[in-house]
Amino acid sequence: RVLRGRPRDLAGRKVVISAGGTREPIDPVRYIGNRSSGLQGYALARTAVARGAEVTVVAANVALPDPAGATVVRVESTAELRDAVLTAAPGADVVVMAAAVADFRPAVRHDSKIKKTDGEPEAIALVKNPDVLAELGQSRGARGPYPEVIVGFAAETDDVLANGQAKLARKGCDLLVVNEVGPGLAFGTPDNAAVVLVAGGEPVEVPRGPKEDVADVVWDLVASRLA
Ligand code: CTP
Ligand code: CA
Repeated sequence: RVLRGRPRDLAGRKVVISAGGTREPIDPVRYIGNRSSGLQGYALARTAVARGAEVTVVAANVALPDPAGATVVRVESTAELRDAVLTAAPGADVVVMAAAVADFRPAVRHDSKIKKTDGEPEAIALVKNPDVLAELGQSRGARGPYPEVIVGFAAETDDVLANGQAKLARKGCDLLVVNEVGPGLAFGTPDNAAVVLVAGGEPVEVPRGPKEDVADVVWDLVASRLA
């Protein structure tokens, strides 16, 4: 897909985009992961480059070609992703958290491979991970520099819009892209359908289409908030 005919409305803007899904180590060979492919985050990166932005992608376990013209920082775990995002965020105008970030991680990372034993396996105890998006939202209460526009993503089931509105408020972000997950939707597919919730504004529906469509709606809304 050739990206042309886009406004250069992000020229001179620095954007940071997290993409993919984190992996939380259990031992040297195993992890707890998720199904995020990085396709939506990379579509955001390509479209932001096309619209003139200086783009840094924090890529968590993404097996896709690097988006041309973007700087890619590779990470695995939530701790690494958090470091990379919080390092890049203060100089950025916009941060988009498109990555699927693990809510929990194993309390212990074993140095040696866990071996099969005769008895039943031990349970894996989990502890909570930091919420990077919420931290970014809270950073705006302090003295700058902090990103002017913060965008979150949420995959929801059940009461999709009500859950999304509550999450937008809780995380203190400007925009929240809400995907309904279900059969043939979102994960690993080139297409997406979404509703973009806007703090202090009306939601914008994006009909099912290429992930670039969702990305362009996000950048339209971001550009109008930066203006
Ligand atoms: N997120 C984050 N750090 C986490 C978990 C999530 O920065 N530890 C970000 C995601 O990148 C996404 C947004 O928060 O942009 C929403 O993620 P989601 O999993 O939908 O929200 P949670 O607050 O974790 O709520 P829950 O999973 O219980 O629905
Ligand atoms: Ca979560």
